Amino acid sequence: MAKKAKKSKTKVKAKSKAASKKVVKLKAKKPAATAKAGNGLPKPSSRPYGAAGKALDGVKILDFTHVQSGPTCTQLLAYMGADCIKVERPGVGDITRGQLRDVKGADSLYFTMLNGNKRSITIDSKHPKGKEILERLIKHCDVLVENFAPGALDRMGLTWDYIHKTNPRMIVASVKGFGPGPYEDCKVYENVAQCTGGAASTTGFREGPPLVTGAQIGDSGTGLHLAFGICAALYQRTRTGRGQKVFAAMQDGVLNLARVKLRDQQRLAHGPLTEYSQYGEGIPFGSATPRAGNDSGGGQPGWILKCKGWESDPDAYIYFITQAPVWEAICDLIGKPEWKTDPDYAKPPARLPRLKSIFATIEEWTKTKTKFEVMDICNQHDIPVGPILSMKEIAEEKSLRDTGTVVEVDHPGRGKYLTVGNPIKLSDSPCEVARSPLLGEHTEEILGKVLGYSASEITEIKGSGAITPQEKSRAEAA
Ligand code: COA
Repeated sequence: MAKKAKKSKTKVKAKSKAASKKVVKLKAKKPAATAKAGNGLPKPSSRPYGAAGKALDGVKILDFTHVQSGPTCTQLLAYMGADCIKVERPGVGDITRGQLRDVKGADSLYFTMLNGNKRSITIDSKHPKGKEILERLIKHCDVLVENFAPGALDRMGLTWDYIHKTNPRMIVASVKGFGPGPYEDCKVYENVAQCTGGAASTTGFREGPPLVTGAQIGDSGTGLHLAFGICAALYQRTRTGRGQKVFAAMQDGVLNLARVKLRDQQRLAHGPLTEYSQYGEGIPFGSATPRAGNDSGGGQPGWILKCKGWESDPDAYIYFITQAPVWEAICDLIGKPEWKTDPDYAKPPARLPRLKSIFATIEEWTKTKTKFEVMDICNQHDIPVGPILSMKEIAEEKSLRDTGTVVEVDHPGRGKYLTVGNPIKLSDSPCEVARSPLLGEHTEEILGKVLGYSASEITEIKGSGAITPQEKSRAEAA
């Protein structure tokens, strides 16, 4: 028996030896073939990093976006090097140009901060000549991005069938409030998405109403999702040669960002959510994920604590995380060394029912220091904390200016303003932030240099009313 077993073992060994020989052979062959083909890619550039153009150089965007979600997407693509041609209604433009104005007569910050690095052309998309110009743009561009109300693009005659027939390579990317279903025809703004995507019901304090957040997760968040979809579609097009529809619903985008709350919804079926402070307070859970105040969304409990000056400074607070591996350092810092060995405090599960009183004790310590002092001291011990930075502090933060995350831009209508540069840094695709365009600033340039209209044709177009407000064009033509 033993002998047999030994024999078969040898056989297996011999077999596997042969197999591994085969594998070795294959292995040796494959990389050689791959290297030869270069995986279909050009030779690695010998230019210094940052001197080989931009990531999306050559990508042409027909930017039909307005307000915030769509413009966020196309501004990111422009930051990455795409040529964004923003189409706006003659005389009116993106409605945000005039919304929340701070400088009389100048484009608002709402507009300027979401439309940098783009060119603006005015076209009346419902005018016959305007339609003709748009057709040329569709033939010229790679991606059409829009976030009109449901059905508006079709009403302009720009259906998917028409666009795909005109330019089969064109990617058509849309933001809408909802995906197909009972609400698909609804108009949606930021806070509607925050409410329908699960963010509002899980934000705020348990004893208070649902809250919306300041971060524009519905608009800017969905614009970001759309930009990712566009890049993926552009990559797939390199293989298929054809465009496709890219669709991002704001409800879906918010839910994607609130996914940990859907996680908690399912955990509820298996018992209370022990990391929520309501568990420690002995308050029973209901049937849905509750609002968690400032509880941390992860496995390491945290809370916002007062710091020195909180009585007069609304932002003198810090987020304090009691990460388990640094618990002993926390105990020493706050003057509670006995908690390191006390069975009520030493281990994370023992602390869960006492989180409220633990954070109150830590707060007695943080209140004696400024938020930046707490940050400095805690970081020396690897304790994760986050000072609550006001927008004023962020605007003045040198390191954010140094990295190009906060950028000062000059604008002919309003002078200098701050904007948020590209939050995504690519080592071989540097981003220079340029001011937003004036309404129709590049109309003639695009008609002539991009779409090939002659000077006399441009004069004719101007008189037609397709690129100027109706009353103006008549006056100008006279
Ligand atoms: N030439 C002629 N008409 C133009 C035009 C142009 N260049 N650009 C836009 N229009 C027209 C549209 O065709 C539409 O006309 P129609 O309804 O008669 O067909 C009209 O302008 C208004 O467009 P609409 O998108 O309905 O704007 P709105 O101000 O009424 O609604 C939103 C704004 C944001 C609520 C809506 O666009 C929407 O729900 N978008 C999708 C979700 C979204 O992105 N929301 C977040 C915004 S930050």
